[in-house]
Formats: sequence, structure tokens, C-alpha cells
Amino acid sequence: EKGGFEHFMLKEIYEQPKSIRDTMRGRLLVEEGVIKMAGIWDHQERFLNAKRIIIVACGTSYHAGLVAEYLIEDLARIPVEVEYASEFRYRNPIINKRDVVIAISQSGETADTLAALKLAKEKGAFIYGINNVVGSSIARITDAGSYTHAGPEIGVASTKAFTAQLTILSLIAIKLGKHNGNLSTERFNALISELDSIPELVQETLETTAEQVIEVAEKYKDAPNALYLGRGYNFPSALEGALKLKEISYIHAEGYPAAEMKHGPIALIDENMPVVIIATKTGHYEKVVSNAQEIKARKGQIIAVVNKGDQEVRKIADHVIEIPNSSEEFSPILAAIPLQLLSYYVAVKLGRNVDQPRNLAKSVTVE
Ligand code: M6R
Repeated sequence: EKGGFEHFMLKEIYEQPKSIRDTMRGRLLVEEGVIKMAGIWDHQERFLNAKRIIIVACGTSYHAGLVAEYLIEDLARIPVEVEYASEFRYRNPIINKRDVVIAISQSGETADTLAALKLAKEKGAFIYGINNVVGSSIARITDAGSYTHAGPEIGVASTKAFTAQLTILSLIAIKLGKHNGNLSTERFNALISELDSIPELVQETLETTAEQVIEVAEKYKDAPNALYLGRGYNFPSALEGALKLKEISYIHAEGYPAAEMKHGPIALIDENMPVVIIATKTGHYEKVVSNAQEIKARKGQIIAVVNKGDQEVRKIADHVIEIPNSSEEFSPILAAIPLQLLSYYVAVKLGRNVDQPRNLAKSVTVE
């Protein structure tokens, strides 16, 4: 049932071209120039009149929510707040009827996310679910929702569910941007045809990055710590990369917005500190290059995720991992792939129980 792969996690990483395509199927209609999502369309008044969108989630799903903050604010110009469900539910949040609360959850059973949603519902918000498991508790209590069609995710580390969440969130942001007049037809068409090509680009990323990633994993597997840095759309990618490494390899890792380095974490940098930097061409590239220089000046070991053909970062980094070119909006989907593979191979080389890491459960049904 692992389809010839050694672990479910690896199988699920390699399934992503398909799971992303499945998530778009029937929704992204490039020829017709439409995004069809009944959950949004049937409630468009709620979305288009929303004063703000609040996203609640935990773990990897929270990181998908952070990417959505960039997507929705950028493309649809609706204010977005992203909250850990566990914090949101206990701080007497201010919620009103014109808020739309979106819960992102692979399992649809995460206790804190479910409770946060119930609270928002009691206060009159419109509640929307982005879940992978059909008929799950969250899916049942929401007013509407969109399922990710990633298929069953068995590995405790979330991989294909994450990229499916990013896919749904991209569709929602683009759809809302079109309907509220923020996206021209031209821009809308460009975005949807690029999104349609993402499964192929994910396939290409899997094929072209694995070898370099294995080399990097071998070199740094004994490091006690690692830092992950990114900016803009790829700041959440840094958080997600670090979470993935921690949970399956048990190496302490932290994700940071790259510019925050100088406010503290840079003190950690020396020749023993591996620093994974996401430095894609679109979005703050020059600034990330200068962050990389600051790290190199302190002898940090730089592993850079860059776009194909990159010249600048190559001069500074110890290792470069090239991903295909894309718009900034979709770069977190592509950047996720080598970071998933990196955590996987480090964990395998350390002999960890990749699919069932210690102390963790696939769905966290207690708070
Ligand atoms: O099922 P959910 O998406 O609600 O789960 C949330 C987190 O428990 C989950 O993403 C967790 O962080 C993963 N193990 C990360 O890989």
C-alpha cells in the first residue's frame, strides 16, 4: 500500500502532482476562464461583504493559513488575520457578523480548531471549512466549505495536504479577487493558467531537486540545530520547513522571517549552523540576498532554495537547490517540495520513525 515507497511520507510527497491536480479538478476551468467553487459562489455575499477574514488552524495548516494571508490580501484586498486556533479560542476574540472565519484542517478533527470554529459560529460569523477528510467534525459544523482532494494522508508529517491547502487557498483568493474587481480579466487569466501548470512544475521539482537534497541531508544530518529563513510569501515556507525537520528528525529547527535575523537569531550563527534560505526571484530577492551575505559573513552554512538559473545567491551559498520559476503567489507550493524531501532524508539517515514520529498523533483530538 506504500506503492513501492519505503514510507508513506515519501509516497505522499511524490503524489503531489496528482493531489494538486485532483484538488483543482472541476474547479479550475482555464478554457472557460472561470473558477467554479460552489462553497464560495453560493455565499458570495458573505465573502464579498466581509470586513475581514479570520483564519484559524494549527501546525502545518496554520502555515497554509499564513500563505493565504498574502494571497487573499494581495489578490482580493480583503484584510486577513491568521491565528493559532488554541490562542484564538481562549482570548475572548472580537468577532462579528461580518467576519468570515475559515478553519483549515487536514483531519477536520483537531480539537482546538473545532472549538475555535464553534466559538466563531456562536458569535454569528460565517464559518467555512477547508478540510481533507470528508464528513469530518469540522466539515459537518461549517456553513460551507471546500474539500482538498489530497486523498488519505497517512504519514504524521503533513505534506500533500499542505500543498492541496495552498491550492484551494490560491483558488479562493483568485476567485474573490475577480469577483470584487481587484483582478483584471487579463491578470485573472494569467493567474489561472499558471496555477494550472503547477502540477507539472511540482513534478519537475521532484525530479530535479531530489539528488541535491540527499547530498545536503547527508552533510547536515548531525547538526543539532538549523535555521530556516524566508520573506513575504515564503516566510511561512520557512516556518513549515522548520516544523517538518523538527517533527520527524528531532533536530531543533526554527523558521524566521529573514529580516528578523538581526533582531536576535543572528547571534546563533557560526560555522556549525546550517541556514536554509528561500530566495526565489520574485519578491524581495535583493533583500534576501543581503540577508544571505550577513549570514555568510558570520560563516553560517547556507543551503539556498533558488529559482532555476539563479546567479547571485550561488556566489554566496554553500549549496543551491533550484526550483522552477513561478509567480510569487505559487512559489510556496514549489518551495515546499525540497524542504519536505530534506526533512525526510535527514530523518531516514538518522534512523527515525518517519511515518510515526515519537510523541505525535496524526490528528490531535485533545487540546
Ligand atoms: O488535521 P490538521 O490539519 O488540523 O492538523 C493540524 C496539525 O496537527 C498538523 O498540521 C501537524 O502540525 C502536522 N503533524 C505537521 O506535519
